[in-house]
Amino acid sequence: MSCGGSCRVPCLPGECFAGGVAKGTPAFILPDRSDRAGVSGAGLWTTAKGLGGGVFRRRSAVGRSGLPGNARTLHGVLAVVPPPVTVRVPAKVNLHLAVGDSRADGYHDLVTIFQALSLTDEVTVAIAEDPGVEVHGEGADSVPTGPSNLAWRAVRVLAQHVGRDPDDPKVRVVIRKAIPVAGGMAGGSADAAATLVGLASLWRLEISRDELAGVAGKIGADVPFAIYGGTALGTDRGDRIVPVLSRHTYHWVLAFDRRGLSTPEVFDELDRLRADGDPPRVGEAEAVLEGLSSGDPRQLALLLGNDLQAAAVSLRPNLRRTLRAGVNAGALAGMVSGSGPTCAFLCTDGDSAVRVAAELAGAGVCRTVRVAQGPVHGARVIGTEDAPRPIPPEVHA
Ligand code: C5P
Repeated sequence: MSCGGSCRVPCLPGECFAGGVAKGTPAFILPDRSDRAGVSGAGLWTTAKGLGGGVFRRRSAVGRSGLPGNARTLHGVLAVVPPPVTVRVPAKVNLHLAVGDSRADGYHDLVTIFQALSLTDEVTVAIAEDPGVEVHGEGADSVPTGPSNLAWRAVRVLAQHVGRDPDDPKVRVVIRKAIPVAGGMAGGSADAAATLVGLASLWRLEISRDELAGVAGKIGADVPFAIYGGTALGTDRGDRIVPVLSRHTYHWVLAFDRRGLSTPEVFDELDRLRADGDPPRVGEAEAVLEGLSSGDPRQLALLLGNDLQAAAVSLRPNLRRTLRAGVNAGALAGMVSGSGPTCAFLCTDGDSAVRVAAELAGAGVCRTVRVAQGPVHGARVIGTEDAPRPIPPEVHA
Protein backbone atom coordinates (compact mmCIF):
# COMPACT_ATOMS: atom_id res chain seq x y z
CA MET A 1 0.00 0.00 0.00
CA SER A 2 1.21 3.52 -0.64
CA CYS A 3 0.52 6.86 1.01
CA GLY A 4 -0.15 8.32 -2.41
CA GLY A 5 2.37 11.06 -1.71
CA SER A 6 5.70 11.73 -3.26
CA CYS A 7 7.40 8.81 -1.60
CA ARG A 8 7.66 5.43 -3.22
CA VAL A 9 7.76 3.53 0.03
CA PRO A 10 4.85 1.21 0.76
CA CYS A 11 3.07 2.77 3.71
CA LEU A 12 -0.29 3.86 5.05
CA PRO A 13 -1.82 7.33 4.66
CA GLY A 14 -0.61 9.43 7.57
CA GLU A 15 1.97 6.79 8.40
CA CYS A 16 4.38 7.68 5.64
CA PHE A 17 7.89 7.52 6.98
CA ALA A 18 9.33 9.15 3.91
CA GLY A 19 6.80 11.93 4.50
CA GLY A 20 9.15 14.88 4.64
CA VAL A 21 10.52 14.41 1.18
CA ALA A 22 9.57 17.38 -0.94
CA LYS A 23 7.83 16.59 -4.19
CA GLY A 24 10.17 16.81 -7.10
CA THR A 25 13.29 16.69 -4.96
CA PRO A 26 15.90 15.43 -7.38
CA ALA A 27 17.27 12.22 -6.02
CA PHE A 28 19.21 11.11 -8.97
CA ILE A 29 21.86 12.28 -11.33
CA LEU A 30 20.33 14.55 -13.89
CA PRO A 31 20.73 13.57 -17.52
CA ASP A 32 23.77 14.87 -19.30
CA ARG A 33 22.56 17.65 -21.59
CA SER A 34 25.95 19.14 -22.31
CA ASP A 35 25.67 18.34 -26.00
CA ARG A 36 22.83 20.84 -26.39
CA ALA A 37 24.77 23.57 -24.62
CA GLY A 38 27.70 23.13 -26.84
CA VAL A 39 29.83 22.49 -23.82
CA SER A 40 32.29 19.70 -23.91
CA GLY A 41 31.08 16.50 -22.37
CA ALA A 42 34.41 15.92 -20.77
CA GLY A 43 34.18 17.07 -17.20
CA LEU A 44 35.18 16.73 -13.62
CA TRP A 45 32.88 15.68 -10.79
CA THR A 46 33.18 17.73 -7.66
CA THR A 47 31.36 17.41 -4.41
CA ALA A 48 30.56 19.76 -1.60
CA LYS A 49 31.67 18.16 1.66
CA GLY A 50 29.88 17.86 4.94
CA LEU A 51 26.35 17.45 6.16
CA GLY A 52 24.75 20.44 4.58
CA GLY A 53 26.53 19.83 1.33
CA GLY A 54 26.03 16.92 -0.92
CA VAL A 55 25.59 18.89 -4.09
CA PHE A 56 27.49 17.38 -6.92
CA ARG A 57 28.20 19.54 -9.88
CA ARG A 58 29.94 18.91 -13.07
CA ARG A 59 32.48 21.44 -14.11
CA SER A 60 33.23 21.70 -17.74
CA ALA A 61 36.91 21.11 -18.20
CA VAL A 62 37.19 22.24 -21.77
CA GLY A 63 34.37 24.70 -22.35
CA ARG A 64 33.61 25.84 -25.83
CA SER A 65 30.55 27.28 -27.42
CA GLY A 66 29.91 27.92 -31.03
CA LEU A 67 27.01 30.28 -30.18
CA PRO A 68 27.15 34.07 -29.89
CA GLY A 69 27.65 35.06 -26.27
CA ASN A 70 24.12 36.36 -25.56
CA ALA A 71 22.53 33.29 -27.09
CA ARG A 72 24.56 30.92 -25.05
CA THR A 73 22.11 28.77 -23.17
CA LEU A 74 23.38 27.26 -19.97
CA HIS A 75 22.16 23.74 -20.12
CA GLY A 76 24.06 22.55 -17.15
CA VAL A 77 25.30 19.15 -16.56
CA LEU A 78 23.92 18.90 -13.08
CA ALA A 79 23.71 16.22 -10.54
CA VAL A 80 22.47 16.32 -6.98
CA VAL A 81 22.33 13.89 -4.12
CA PRO A 82 19.32 13.85 -1.80
CA PRO A 83 19.26 16.37 1.03
CA PRO A 84 19.77 15.25 4.63
CA VAL A 85 16.77 13.59 6.27
CA THR A 86 15.79 14.24 9.90
CA VAL A 87 13.77 11.73 11.89
CA ARG A 88 12.12 12.16 15.29
CA VAL A 89 11.93 9.03 17.42
CA PRO A 90 10.32 8.35 20.81
CA ALA A 91 11.54 6.87 24.09
CA LYS A 92 9.55 3.95 25.50
CA VAL A 93 8.27 2.88 28.84
CA ASN A 94 7.23 -0.70 29.61
CA LEU A 95 3.76 -0.74 31.19
CA HIS A 96 4.24 -4.44 31.78
CA LEU A 97 7.52 -6.37 31.64
CA ALA A 98 7.45 -10.09 32.39
CA VAL A 99 10.89 -11.69 32.15
CA GLY A 100 11.21 -15.44 31.56
CA ASP A 101 14.25 -17.64 31.92
CA SER A 102 17.57 -16.83 30.29
CA ARG A 103 18.11 -18.48 26.91
CA ALA A 104 21.10 -20.05 25.24
CA ASP A 105 21.55 -16.93 23.06
CA GLY A 106 22.05 -14.72 26.13
CA TYR A 107 18.59 -13.18 25.92
CA HIS A 108 15.50 -13.73 28.08
CA ASP A 109 12.01 -14.46 26.81
CA LEU A 110 9.83 -11.43 27.44
CA VAL A 111 6.18 -10.54 27.42
CA THR A 112 6.02 -6.79 27.51
CA ILE A 113 3.72 -3.90 26.71
CA PHE A 114 5.55 -0.91 25.34
CA GLN A 115 4.28 2.64 25.17
CA ALA A 116 6.07 5.29 23.11
CA LEU A 117 6.43 8.64 24.90
CA SER A 118 6.75 12.24 23.75
CA LEU A 119 10.36 12.36 24.98
CA THR A 120 12.22 12.18 21.68
CA ASP A 121 15.62 12.16 20.01
CA GLU A 122 16.23 13.60 16.56
CA VAL A 123 18.53 11.91 14.10
CA THR A 124 19.75 13.37 10.81
CA VAL A 125 21.25 11.15 8.14
CA ALA A 126 23.10 12.60 5.18
CA ILE A 127 25.25 11.54 2.29
CA ALA A 128 28.77 12.60 3.24
CA GLU A 129 32.35 11.91 2.36
CA ASP A 130 33.31 11.89 6.04
CA PRO A 131 31.16 9.00 7.34
CA GLY A 132 30.51 8.47 11.03
CA VAL A 133 28.34 9.38 13.98
CA GLU A 134 28.22 12.51 16.10
CA VAL A 135 26.15 12.91 19.23
CA HIS A 136 24.88 16.06 20.94
CA GLY A 137 22.62 16.79 23.92
CA GLU A 138 21.56 14.76 26.94
CA GLY A 139 24.39 12.42 28.00
CA ALA A 140 26.25 12.83 24.69
CA ASP A 141 29.67 12.41 26.35
CA SER A 142 28.90 8.86 27.38
CA VAL A 143 27.69 7.66 23.97
CA PRO A 144 30.31 5.76 21.94
CA THR A 145 30.65 7.05 18.40
CA GLY A 146 32.58 4.06 17.05
CA PRO A 147 31.37 0.77 15.57
CA SER A 148 29.47 -0.15 18.76
CA ASN A 149 27.10 2.82 18.36
CA LEU A 150 23.67 1.33 17.59
CA ALA A 151 22.92 3.98 14.96
CA TRP A 152 26.12 3.10 13.14
CA ARG A 153 25.22 -0.60 13.38
CA ALA A 154 21.91 0.34 11.80
CA VAL A 155 23.73 1.96 8.87
CA ARG A 156 25.83 -1.16 8.32
CA VAL A 157 23.01 -3.67 8.76
CA LEU A 158 20.66 -1.80 6.40
CA ALA A 159 23.42 -1.27 3.84
CA GLN A 160 24.08 -5.01 3.86
CA HIS A 161 20.35 -5.77 3.62
CA VAL A 162 19.91 -3.66 0.48
CA GLY A 163 23.17 -4.63 -1.22
CA ARG A 164 25.23 -1.52 -0.46
CA ASP A 165 28.78 -1.68 0.83
CA PRO A 166 28.54 -1.73 4.67
CA ASP A 167 32.23 -0.83 4.92
CA ASP A 168 31.81 2.32 2.83
CA PRO A 169 28.26 3.59 3.33
CA LYS A 170 29.12 7.28 2.73
CA VAL A 171 26.63 8.32 5.39
CA ARG A 172 26.93 10.67 8.33
CA VAL A 173 24.57 10.36 11.30
CA VAL A 174 23.98 13.28 13.68
CA ILE A 175 22.07 12.45 16.86
CA ARG A 176 20.49 15.10 19.10
CA LYS A 177 19.58 13.40 22.35
CA ALA A 178 16.86 14.13 24.88
CA ILE A 179 16.32 10.48 25.90
CA PRO A 180 18.62 9.58 28.81
CA VAL A 181 21.59 7.37 27.93
CA ALA A 182 21.50 3.92 29.60
CA GLY A 183 18.26 5.03 31.24
CA GLY A 184 15.97 2.06 30.51
CA MET A 185 14.04 4.05 27.90
CA ALA A 186 15.62 2.46 24.82
CA GLY A 187 17.34 5.65 23.69
CA GLY A 188 20.12 3.91 21.76
CA SER A 189 17.57 1.60 20.14
CA ALA A 190 15.46 4.62 19.23
CA ASP A 191 18.45 6.23 17.51
CA ALA A 192 19.05 3.02 15.55
CA ALA A 193 15.38 2.92 14.49
CA ALA A 194 15.50 6.56 13.44
CA THR A 195 18.61 5.87 11.40
CA LEU A 196 16.85 3.03 9.56
CA VAL A 197 13.81 5.19 8.80
CA GLY A 198 16.02 8.09 7.72
CA LEU A 199 18.11 5.91 5.43
CA ALA A 200 14.98 4.34 3.90
CA SER A 201 14.06 7.86 2.81
CA LEU A 202 17.58 9.06 1.95
CA TRP A 203 18.31 5.99 -0.17
CA ARG A 204 14.76 5.95 -1.63
CA LEU A 205 14.29 2.34 -0.60
CA GLU A 206 11.14 0.47 -1.47
CA ILE A 207 10.89 -1.13 1.93
CA SER A 208 7.85 -1.63 4.13
CA ARG A 209 7.74 -0.75 7.81
CA ASP A 210 7.46 -4.47 8.62
CA GLU A 211 10.58 -5.30 6.59
CA LEU A 212 12.40 -2.43 8.27
CA ALA A 213 11.33 -3.78 11.67
CA GLY A 214 12.80 -7.16 10.67
CA VAL A 215 16.12 -5.45 9.94
CA ALA A 216 15.75 -3.55 13.25
CA GLY A 217 15.56 -6.82 15.19
CA LYS A 218 19.09 -7.70 14.03
CA ILE A 219 20.38 -4.55 15.76
CA GLY A 220 18.73 -4.93 19.17
CA ALA A 221 15.64 -6.25 20.91
CA ASP A 222 14.04 -2.82 21.48
CA VAL A 223 14.71 -1.41 18.01
CA PRO A 224 11.60 -2.80 16.21
CA PHE A 225 9.21 -1.17 18.67
CA ALA A 226 10.74 2.26 18.04
CA ILE A 227 9.94 1.81 14.34
CA TYR A 228 6.22 1.36 15.14
CA GLY A 229 5.67 3.41 18.31
CA GLY A 230 2.19 3.69 19.79
CA THR A 231 1.35 1.00 22.30
CA ALA A 232 2.36 -2.56 21.47
CA LEU A 233 2.73 -6.05 22.83
CA GLY A 234 6.28 -7.38 22.49
CA THR A 235 7.15 -11.09 22.81
CA ASP A 236 10.17 -13.35 22.19
CA ARG A 237 13.13 -11.03 22.99
CA GLY A 238 10.65 -8.14 23.01
CA ASP A 239 11.18 -7.71 19.28
CA ARG A 240 8.04 -9.46 17.96
CA ILE A 241 5.63 -6.57 17.93
CA VAL A 242 1.84 -6.56 17.78
CA PRO A 243 0.28 -3.08 17.90
CA VAL A 244 -2.33 -2.48 20.60
CA LEU A 245 -5.14 -0.06 19.86
CA SER A 246 -5.04 2.61 22.56
CA ARG A 247 -7.01 5.80 21.94
CA HIS A 248 -6.36 7.36 25.32
CA THR A 249 -3.49 9.64 26.23
CA TYR A 250 -1.60 8.98 29.45
CA HIS A 251 0.48 11.53 31.35
CA TRP A 252 3.87 10.60 32.75
CA VAL A 253 6.64 12.12 34.84
CA LEU A 254 10.13 10.76 34.27
CA ALA A 255 12.94 10.99 36.83
CA PHE A 256 16.44 10.55 35.38
CA ASP A 257 19.04 9.16 37.76
CA ARG A 258 22.55 10.55 38.10
CA ARG A 259 24.19 7.59 36.32
CA GLY A 260 22.97 5.03 33.82
CA LEU A 261 22.59 1.27 34.34
CA SER A 262 23.84 -1.44 31.98
CA THR A 263 20.93 -3.51 30.62
CA PRO A 264 22.84 -6.84 30.60
CA GLU A 265 23.93 -6.24 34.21
CA VAL A 266 20.31 -5.70 35.28
CA PHE A 267 19.20 -8.93 33.56
CA ASP A 268 22.14 -10.75 35.21
CA GLU A 269 21.14 -9.32 38.58
CA LEU A 270 17.60 -10.62 38.10
CA ASP A 271 18.98 -14.11 37.31
CA ARG A 272 21.07 -13.88 40.49
CA LEU A 273 18.09 -12.77 42.64
CA ARG A 274 16.01 -15.60 41.19
CA ALA A 275 18.76 -18.13 41.89
CA ASP A 276 18.89 -16.93 45.53
CA GLY A 277 15.16 -16.61 46.18
CA ASP A 278 11.87 -15.75 44.55
CA PRO A 279 11.52 -12.04 43.78
CA PRO A 280 7.92 -11.02 42.93
CA ARG A 281 6.76 -11.56 39.37
CA VAL A 282 4.28 -9.43 37.46
CA GLY A 283 0.84 -10.84 36.58
CA GLU A 284 -0.67 -11.42 33.16
CA ALA A 285 -0.37 -8.96 30.30
CA GLU A 286 -4.09 -9.41 29.49
CA ALA A 287 -5.12 -7.47 32.60
CA VAL A 288 -2.95 -4.54 31.49
CA LEU A 289 -4.45 -4.64 28.01
CA GLU A 290 -7.93 -4.46 29.57
CA GLY A 291 -6.80 -1.61 31.80
CA LEU A 292 -5.54 0.24 28.73
CA SER A 293 -8.82 -0.17 26.93
CA SER A 294 -10.68 1.46 29.85
CA GLY A 295 -8.68 4.66 29.33
CA ASP A 296 -8.75 5.25 33.09
CA PRO A 297 -5.25 6.00 34.39
CA ARG A 298 -6.33 4.99 37.93
CA GLN A 299 -7.17 1.51 36.70
CA LEU A 300 -3.99 1.24 34.64
CA ALA A 301 -1.90 2.43 37.59
CA LEU A 302 -2.93 -0.63 39.62
CA LEU A 303 -1.71 -2.95 36.87
CA LEU A 304 1.73 -1.56 35.99
CA GLY A 305 4.56 -4.00 36.71
CA ASN A 306 8.17 -4.70 35.85
CA ASP A 307 10.13 -7.85 36.75
CA LEU A 308 13.39 -5.95 36.26
CA GLN A 309 12.51 -3.42 38.97
CA ALA A 310 13.77 -5.61 41.83
CA ALA A 311 17.09 -6.05 40.02
CA ALA A 312 17.47 -2.34 39.21
CA VAL A 313 16.69 -1.39 42.83
CA SER A 314 19.10 -4.04 44.09
CA LEU A 315 21.88 -2.45 42.00
CA ARG A 316 20.77 1.12 42.76
CA PRO A 317 19.04 1.21 46.18
CA ASN A 318 18.48 5.00 45.95
CA LEU A 319 15.70 4.29 43.42
CA ARG A 320 13.44 3.29 46.34
CA ARG A 321 13.53 6.89 47.54
CA THR A 322 12.81 8.23 44.08
CA LEU A 323 9.82 5.90 43.65
CA ARG A 324 8.46 6.88 47.06
CA ALA A 325 8.97 10.59 46.39
CA GLY A 326 6.98 10.46 43.13
CA VAL A 327 4.01 8.75 44.74
CA ASN A 328 4.17 11.14 47.73
CA ALA A 329 4.11 13.99 45.23
CA GLY A 330 0.75 12.78 43.90
CA ALA A 331 1.52 10.27 41.12
CA LEU A 332 -0.94 7.37 40.78
CA ALA A 333 1.92 4.87 40.55
CA GLY A 334 5.66 4.78 40.00
CA MET A 335 7.90 2.11 38.55
CA VAL A 336 11.36 1.63 37.14
CA SER A 337 11.30 2.04 33.35
CA GLY A 338 12.63 -1.10 31.64
CA SER A 339 16.05 -1.94 33.06
CA GLY A 340 16.24 1.48 34.77
CA PRO A 341 17.39 3.58 36.41
CA THR A 342 14.83 6.08 35.05
CA CYS A 343 11.65 6.02 37.14
CA ALA A 344 8.31 6.58 35.39
CA PHE A 345 5.26 7.93 37.23
CA LEU A 346 1.74 7.69 35.85
CA CYS A 347 -0.38 10.74 36.69
CA THR A 348 -4.09 11.54 36.54
CA ASP A 349 -3.80 14.23 33.87
CA GLY A 350 -1.42 16.82 32.40
CA ASP A 351 -1.86 19.34 35.24
CA SER A 352 -1.19 16.70 37.85
CA ALA A 353 1.95 15.62 35.94
CA VAL A 354 3.30 19.18 36.02
CA ARG A 355 2.66 19.41 39.80
CA VAL A 356 4.27 16.02 40.47
CA ALA A 357 7.28 16.97 38.32
CA ALA A 358 7.79 20.24 40.20
CA GLU A 359 7.62 18.56 43.59
CA LEU A 360 9.88 15.69 42.52
CA ALA A 361 12.44 18.13 41.14
CA GLY A 362 12.47 19.88 44.53
CA ALA A 363 12.90 16.61 46.45
CA GLY A 364 16.51 16.24 45.31
CA VAL A 365 16.20 12.51 44.65
CA CYS A 366 17.16 12.53 40.97
CA ARG A 367 19.16 14.46 38.39
CA THR A 368 16.44 15.72 36.04
CA VAL A 369 12.66 15.50 35.79
CA ARG A 370 10.61 15.55 32.57
CA VAL A 371 6.92 15.33 31.77
CA ALA A 372 5.79 13.30 28.76
CA GLN A 373 2.66 11.85 27.18
CA GLY A 374 1.98 8.57 25.50
CA PRO A 375 1.31 6.95 23.23
CA VAL A 376 2.99 8.80 20.36
CA HIS A 377 3.91 7.50 16.92
CA GLY A 378 7.19 5.76 16.12
CA ALA A 379 10.23 6.97 14.18
CA ARG A 380 9.05 9.41 11.53
CA VAL A 381 10.66 11.79 9.06
CA ILE A 382 10.10 15.38 10.20
CA GLY A 383 11.92 17.06 7.37
CA THR A 384 14.54 17.18 4.76
CA GLU A 385 16.79 20.13 4.44
CA ASP A 386 15.79 22.46 1.67
CA ALA A 387 16.16 20.64 -1.58
CA PRO A 388 19.54 21.70 -2.92
CA ARG A 389 19.27 24.12 -5.76
CA PRO A 390 21.19 23.01 -8.82
CA ILE A 391 24.37 25.00 -9.13
CA PRO A 392 24.69 26.60 -12.56
CA PRO A 393 27.54 25.04 -14.45
CA GLU A 394 30.67 26.99 -15.05
CA VAL A 395 30.95 27.71 -18.74
CA HIS A 396 34.24 28.55 -20.28
CA ALA A 397 34.17 30.62 -23.43
O1 C5P B 1 19.19 -6.40 22.24
P1 C5P B 1 19.68 -5.34 23.16
O2 C5P B 1 21.03 -4.83 22.77
O3 C5P B 1 18.68 -4.26 23.39
O4 C5P B 1 19.87 -6.04 24.57
C1 C5P B 1 20.90 -5.66 25.45
C2 C5P B 1 21.14 -6.78 26.42
O5 C5P B 1 20.03 -6.90 27.34
C3 C5P B 1 21.29 -8.16 25.83
O6 C5P B 1 22.59 -8.39 25.39
C4 C5P B 1 20.90 -9.04 27.00
O7 C5P B 1 21.97 -9.15 27.92
C5 C5P B 1 19.81 -8.25 27.68
N1 C5P B 1 18.48 -8.66 27.19
C6 C5P B 1 17.98 -9.89 27.60
N2 C5P B 1 16.77 -10.31 27.13
C7 C5P B 1 16.04 -9.53 26.30
C8 C5P B 1 16.51 -8.26 25.89
C9 C5P B 1 17.75 -7.86 26.37
O8 C5P B 1 18.62 -10.63 28.36
N3 C5P B 1 14.86 -9.99 25.88
